[in-house]
Amino acid sequence: MIEELLPSGVTSSEAFDDAAPAPLFPAEAALMVGRRERRRRQFATARACARRALADLGRQPVALLPGPGGAPQWPSGVVGSITHCEGYRAAVAAPRAAVAALGIDAEPAGPLPRGVLALITSPAERAHLADLAAADNSVPWERVLFSAKEAAYKAWYPATGIWLGFRDAALVLPPAGTFTATLHPPAGAVSVDPVYGGRWLAGRGLVVTAVARPVHAGALA
Ligand SMILES: CC(C)(COP(=O)(O)OP(=O)(O)OC[C@H]1O[C@@H](n2cnc3c(N)ncnc32)[C@H](O)[C@@H]1OP(=O)(O)O)[C@@H](O)C(=O)NCCC(=O)NCCS
Repeated sequence: MIEELLPSGVTSSEAFDDAAPAPLFPAEAALMVGRRERRRRQFATARACARRALADLGRQPVALLPGPGGAPQWPSGVVGSITHCEGYRAAVAAPRAAVAALGIDAEPAGPLPRGVLALITSPAERAHLADLAAADNSVPWERVLFSAKEAAYKAWYPATGIWLGFRDAALVLPPAGTFTATLHPPAGAVSVDPVYGGRWLAGRGLVVTAVARPVHAGALA
């Protein structure tokens, strides 16, 4: 699914279960000591996906350890992103020379848990979601919005080190599989462009979103 959302030059790998062997480097395995089996398998399969994405860039397998804020530390010269949810794991990678930021997210399709929507959206976004649902109620719009905010955050955070809450992002979802996330960091905090364009896809009981920002505007097809 994820490759449908990515421009050329971005490699990806995904898995819908943890059936394939997914060996960890010792430093990665050490992070999983004492963790629940579900988390260990999810972590390992996502690392296997990441190493496949790196291999497609011609890069050797390496340990992918969490850095500040939980963002994975990719090898020098590479940007990437990882996601996992029930029934899905994926990773994407690209040369830093071509791609400035990547963020992906996956969620189970369907409504958000009760009470969550009010916490993660503005009144304007809720009105936007109501309009979208009136036009097409086959799409789990609130999940798409939630996932798109997380994908934008994963592209934003490694470049800035700045945590943002869900209410610090304003989402617009044109119907045709795209979105724009405008992030609102503290005034004067960074010089990174806070407007991220992305794409989304719903299918197989999942919502998947991706942000890929080219180094040179318009350079990714
Ligand atoms: C970090 C966060 C985005 C992860 O999303 P999630 O749906 O909980 O989990 P996912 O499985 O999709 O993604 C987890 C992976 O994201 C990556 N990740 C974690 N923190 C990250 C960060 N700060 N920046 C980039 N990637 C991050 C990791 O690779 C992690 O997997 P791993 O621990 O196995 O390496 C989420 O937990 C969070 O903190 N959100 C609050 C901030 C936010 O989203 N704001 C939105 C408005 S900007």
